[in-house]
Amino acid sequence: MNYVLGIDLGTSGVKCLLVSDEGNIIGSASKSYKPDFGDNGYVEQDPVVWWENTKVAVKDIVDKFPEARGNIKALSCSGQMHSSVFLDSDGKVIRKAILWNDTRTTSQINEIYERAGGLENVLGMVYNKALEGFTLPKILWLRENEPDNFNRVDKVIMPKDYINYMLTGNIKTEVSDAAGTLLFDVKNSCWSKEMIQKMELNEDILPEVIPSTGVVGMVLEDIANELGLAADAEIIAGGADNSCAAVGNGVVSKGQAVISVGTSGTAIAYLDDINSKVTGDVHLFNYSMPDSLYAMGVMLCAGEALNWLKRTFFEDTSFDEINILADKSPAGSNGVIFLPYLFGERCPYSDPNAKGIFFGMSGASNKGDMIRSVMEGVAFGLKDLFSLVIDFVDVDELYITGGGAKSKVWGQIIADVIGRELKVLNIEEGPSFGAALIALVGAGLCDDFETAKGKSVKVIKVIKPTENVEKYKEIHKLYTELYMTNKEFFKKL
Ligand code: XUL
Repeated sequence: MNYVLGIDLGTSGVKCLLVSDEGNIIGSASKSYKPDFGDNGYVEQDPVVWWENTKVAVKDIVDKFPEARGNIKALSCSGQMHSSVFLDSDGKVIRKAILWNDTRTTSQINEIYERAGGLENVLGMVYNKALEGFTLPKILWLRENEPDNFNRVDKVIMPKDYINYMLTGNIKTEVSDAAGTLLFDVKNSCWSKEMIQKMELNEDILPEVIPSTGVVGMVLEDIANELGLAADAEIIAGGADNSCAAVGNGVVSKGQAVISVGTSGTAIAYLDDINSKVTGDVHLFNYSMPDSLYAMGVMLCAGEALNWLKRTFFEDTSFDEINILADKSPAGSNGVIFLPYLFGERCPYSDPNAKGIFFGMSGASNKGDMIRSVMEGVAFGLKDLFSLVIDFVDVDELYITGGGAKSKVWGQIIADVIGRELKVLNIEEGPSFGAALIALVGAGLCDDFETAKGKSVKVIKVIKPTENVEKYKEIHKLYTELYMTNKEFFKKL
């Protein structure tokens, strides 16, 4: 039998998934690491850490499943988006990568709008508004703050491109990661010459862009031997983590979307073109399926809000008990409303000052009300994301994935708040599984994504909205008003 590897190169670890050429998950291996957090919003990571840990995870999985040794025909990575790896002309890393969640670049955001001539122009060139986490502001930061390093930059690539480079010796990126740089013309799927020129950058620092299913190259011989890959294994370009996650969660045609309740929350829908007015409220990126795009809303704190609550107030209470307590509180949490903006917010409000709020407690409020209000607050945030997405494209099939989907009570709250039927899938390994499907299709081991999905992705549960939908529509209005009323006040904290 032949196999492929799907690798998810994340911020806190790397996960390697072994998948058969029939599309079945055989097993996985993971390695954890930490980003380096510094003052002033600095978050950095040494690409060497990614590469060393990736090698260990691949070796682990081959050791666990010896039948795969020498039979892994293709490998593809899903990677944290936007994080910038700066390479010199010898292909050496110049400094640590600046990550997607690093917030040092606020003044570079102003510079981008000034140079481009305002938001409308930025949207016209790259279809997204400028956010601190994206790649371009990091390049401008380097130019201003570390000119010696900037002058040595030969290429800027993203994390998973670095792994592909280590595996093949070739430096390339692909459309879904290029889209997150703010230098890519998303509609026409090519670098935006106009944006590059307005930023006074040299286009040569940007790598060749290929489709996600394109071949970066053959694995280097010594690496194939070291890792146990087939000598002729193809390294397929792979994609941005959100793009891979959507592929892995079965979003393969128009009308399909997925809501993910991980640490952060996302709503992602398939797009075949950009036909609606571009406002920048929703991210528009190129997708890992050929000639397609996706619309995405991101909230920075989703599942993490419940983790924070447990860590802070319910350390000795299990998640099972937390779910039972939440289930005992009625829809609306007896008047308690929670704003989940613990890390500021990206969508629907791009507001780094936004904070969390518990509102509306009385002497009768109990633990269950507090817990349920957190689940409801996150669900309201997801509704906001989904509303942004359906403003852009119609959705008739909605999947849900991530920790929130596993909790019966939380899944039901989300269905009631959004007012839509949610389908829970058998796949829990979204990004790495999506990467594996990209490897299968890219290496020609499977004809296309629809076929790959048909073989492996199944609906295991359907959550239907209940009579609470109307009640939640009213509470959502209060939730929105609560943010609007406090928006200016947050700045004083
Ligand atoms: C997407 C984004 C994050 C990172 C996390 O725009 O910033 O989802 O991709 O890895």
